[in-house]
Amino acid sequence: MCGIVGYVGKRSAKDFLVEGLKRLEYRGYDSAGIAVMQEVKGTQKIYTVRAVGKVINLENKLSEHMSGCIGIAHTRWATHGKPSEKNAHPHIDCKGTVAVVHNGIIENYLELREMLVKKGHTFRSETDTEVIAHLIEEEMSASDKTENIFEEAFVRTLKQLRGAYGIVALSVHDPEMVLVARKSSPLVLGIGNGEMFIASDVSAMIGDVKRIVYLDDGEIALVRKESYTVKTLANRMKEKEELVLEWDKSVAEKGGFAHFMQKEIFDQSRSFADALRGRLILEDGMARLGGLRTVEKRLRSINRIIIVSCGTSYHSALVGEYMLEEYAGIQTEVEMASEFRYRKPLLDKKTVVIAISQSGETADTLAAIREAKEKGALTLGIVNVVGSTIARETDAGIYCHAGPEISVASTKAFTSQLAILALLTLYVGRQRGLSLVMGKRIAKELLAIPKHIETVLKQTEAIKKLAKKYGRQPHYMYLGRKYNFPNALEGALKIKEIGYVPAQGYPTGEMKHGPIALIDSSVVSLMIIPKDSVYEKNMSGMEEILARGGKIIAIATVGDTAIQKRTKDVIFIPKTIEMLTPLLAVIPLQLFAYFVAVERGYDIDKPRNLAKSVTVE
Ligand code: F6R
Repeated sequence: MCGIVGYVGKRSAKDFLVEGLKRLEYRGYDSAGIAVMQEVKGTQKIYTVRAVGKVINLENKLSEHMSGCIGIAHTRWATHGKPSEKNAHPHIDCKGTVAVVHNGIIENYLELREMLVKKGHTFRSETDTEVIAHLIEEEMSASDKTENIFEEAFVRTLKQLRGAYGIVALSVHDPEMVLVARKSSPLVLGIGNGEMFIASDVSAMIGDVKRIVYLDDGEIALVRKESYTVKTLANRMKEKEELVLEWDKSVAEKGGFAHFMQKEIFDQSRSFADALRGRLILEDGMARLGGLRTVEKRLRSINRIIIVSCGTSYHSALVGEYMLEEYAGIQTEVEMASEFRYRKPLLDKKTVVIAISQSGETADTLAAIREAKEKGALTLGIVNVVGSTIARETDAGIYCHAGPEISVASTKAFTSQLAILALLTLYVGRQRGLSLVMGKRIAKELLAIPKHIETVLKQTEAIKKLAKKYGRQPHYMYLGRKYNFPNALEGALKIKEIGYVPAQGYPTGEMKHGPIALIDSSVVSLMIIPKDSVYEKNMSGMEEILARGGKIIAIATVGDTAIQKRTKDVIFIPKTIEMLTPLLAVIPLQLFAYFVAVERGYDIDKPRNLAKSVTVE
């Protein structure tokens, strides 16, 4: 969950490391630190600076004299040991000869620490990471060789670790090289011109490199300024595919918006259109999904879909379940990835397990996919980050093409995932009896969505006013039925994440089974109530809330005058077919959460306790 960056090159490492950490700050912001290799009077020394809180605190502590060209840095999301300077990475050994940054959790760190203490090592932090630095030190001092001692000690250290890690280390014993190792925690190398970059997330190096290499589990990389080598722990050389990084620098900047979240909400017309681009065949009411070509035959024989995902991606999956069952006529189940693998799921060759993930690195989702593969199911990925672990480990997949999502609270990834799920519905549906007429209708409506999104965004001021009016309420209910029930969950998640307000998402019909007891004049219910097949049922739910003094903000279809008679607070969305209404209704929910959090003065892009990619289980 933390962010790692490394640099080996010809410029001052500090400049890229600080910039890279800022770009990764959304992955953790409890503390930050940097270690740079520097020559002092002919001797290589490691200089480390660490600070509690955000990267700016670290930057303010850095001296101009830190000019070495090799360095590593880290921004932390605490797992072991509270956020403090002594627990901040990089961690160093007793003699200051090794510096280490680490993402993940070393499960056997207590026993390793005990062993190292008995051997005379002194620990300065409460972290699991520090054992890595001392282990390398121990292994180096136990070596009778004079060459490659850092590399060999590093490998011997890795063999003693249990758990998950992405590790980057440097040592005075080979001061021109950085060592990198990956097991269940992503790391990517960026290839520059006479310089190499390392990061836990490719967004740290956007604008600096065009070619990247993702490491796989069990691999280590030896990185020097002109070259890199990738090996397995068993010392077998690996040929790695170099990918092209398409994103340019502007995508990692706010571009005039106050926050990345706001920028990403407003980017949804573009990101949705990009998800569809080249994939819709209007005249055939069909989708062209090149990423599924290799599994096309097998897909025709499946009779069940299970979608695994977490958080916002779980909510898009729930919408997908309605789409796939209604229009593709295929049994679909959605499972929270964190539960799936512990449930002994029944899978066979006729089941396809689809992972939905913006980052493509979520540990729970990855574990679920691995479980599904082991049991013989076909696996697919609906992933945003190209080349990410889930994208690589699934049998085939469809990229979302949303562009980088920087804000911790996910917005445009959700609507892009819905675009892909609608395309998948057409793709599977047209093979299984979805009529040409219906296929064409869905395709036509999909093409109109980007314009509709713009229409909804034009009501930003009205939504801002609602956030001013209701932004201090102690509790919110989010209600919707059928396709918009997942949106109720998503709206509630957004306001919990960035507004820190208790909020519950419920299917409107479930209210009478308990939650309605919560309703009084202090509760605001955001009701998603488009003109669809459950409109009347939804209206009854609304009456029940009004009868108990509850306040309602409605999200309704343009032209619905009946709603306006029941509440003054209505945001209208354009007309579209029922299965696509969540795409439009979610935007006022995202904006409402955004403005409530602004109202309350919170840090929108870096909400407390959260990190963007959840790479620990
Ligand atoms: C919500 C949010 C999280 C993620 C979840 C899954 O705003 O960002 O709930 O949706 O952690 O992440 P991905 O999609 O990267 O697997």
